[in-house]
Amino acid sequence: MRSIQALQPDTVESLLTAAGAAPSIHNTQPWRFHLDRDSQVLEVHSVPERTLPQTDPTHRAQYLSVGAAVFNLRLAAVHLGLRPEARLLPDLTRPGLLATVRLTEHLGADDQDQAPGLYDAIAQRHTSRKPFTGRPVPEPIVAEMTAAAHAAGARLYIPDHAGTRRLLRLTAAAEARNHAHTARTAETRNWVHAPGADSSYGIPVTALGPPDAAGRMPMRDFTGLPPAGRRPAVWFERHVQMAMLWTSHDRRDDWLRAGQALQYVLLTATARGLRTSLLHQAMEWPDLRAATALPRHKRCHPQMLIRFGYGPDGTPTPRARGRTATQPGT
Ligand SMILES: Cc1cc2nc3c(=O)[nH]c(=O)nc-3n(C[C@H](O)[C@H](O)[C@H](O)COP(=O)(O)O)c2cc1C
Repeated sequence: MRSIQALQPDTVESLLTAAGAAPSIHNTQPWRFHLDRDSQVLEVHSVPERTLPQTDPTHRAQYLSVGAAVFNLRLAAVHLGLRPEARLLPDLTRPGLLATVRLTEHLGADDQDQAPGLYDAIAQRHTSRKPFTGRPVPEPIVAEMTAAAHAAGARLYIPDHAGTRRLLRLTAAAEARNHAHTARTAETRNWVHAPGADSSYGIPVTALGPPDAAGRMPMRDFTGLPPAGRRPAVWFERHVQMAMLWTSHDRRDDWLRAGQALQYVLLTATARGLRTSLLHQAMEWPDLRAATALPRHKRCHPQMLIRFGYGPDGTPTPRARGRTATQPGT
């Protein structure tokens, strides 16, 4: 094994920019990085100030977000010719340390064969909350997304029409509960800002989508406004194409794996020209989350609903500049 030269500042910057482009709940970006220059280990820490106590009291969604960032980090390392060795929850005495990625040696040309377009998809992917065209996604692309989830240690279930309607109904029920929950609504609204606001976190109001005129598509209303105060409704695709990401256990490392799988699926979809958005509301209520599980699988722990299809690109959201902390956990 060849040891590597000290990482150059622009290499570190590229790694952190890729990691930071990951999706995160409410764009909280709940990660912080620390590079140990001697061992070439990048530590990925959670950030207690950027949690959502109302929406995500167990921190499951935070772990999914960090998992997605770890996936981007690994992908970027390989793209830069480095071999990433990721460990999840490497030190149980440091609960805020969610992962380490050791960059051990330069890759040979044979090691670098990532799925085409996957790295470029990191920058191209944006959540699209707009209506899709409804054009069916070819089966081979769906199979590729399913294989991506599997390769990252999770599963992807593609429901039929009846199954899709059921998942949308459960999401609509969760959305109604969120709307009636004053503290959750206030928390969510805190992460939405006006266009041009000087914020590196949260979601600009311009990245939110319109409500569905048919009332079938329960997109998350981040504003908490009554229907009269919201954007004019528009027609969404009639046949929603969606997937449910699940894991067979539900521990903290499963959540990190699910986050990596989520990002692998989203980037695979993006690289094949699809747009995606996430419907997480049902995952935020234990009974509704349980109701989304596959009935015939005793060990099905739903982690995320992913809507996919062809349509307009999403609006980019801001990111905090990627930088490493000088002290662990700071
Ligand atoms: C765990 C998790 C839950 C999310 N839940 C939702 C959701 O319910 N509705 C939604 O529109 N977007 C959801 N998102 C997408 C984020 O809002 C989005 O990733 C973030 O604002 C950054 O924008 P980007 O994905 O365009 O980079 C979720 C993302 C993650 C990782």
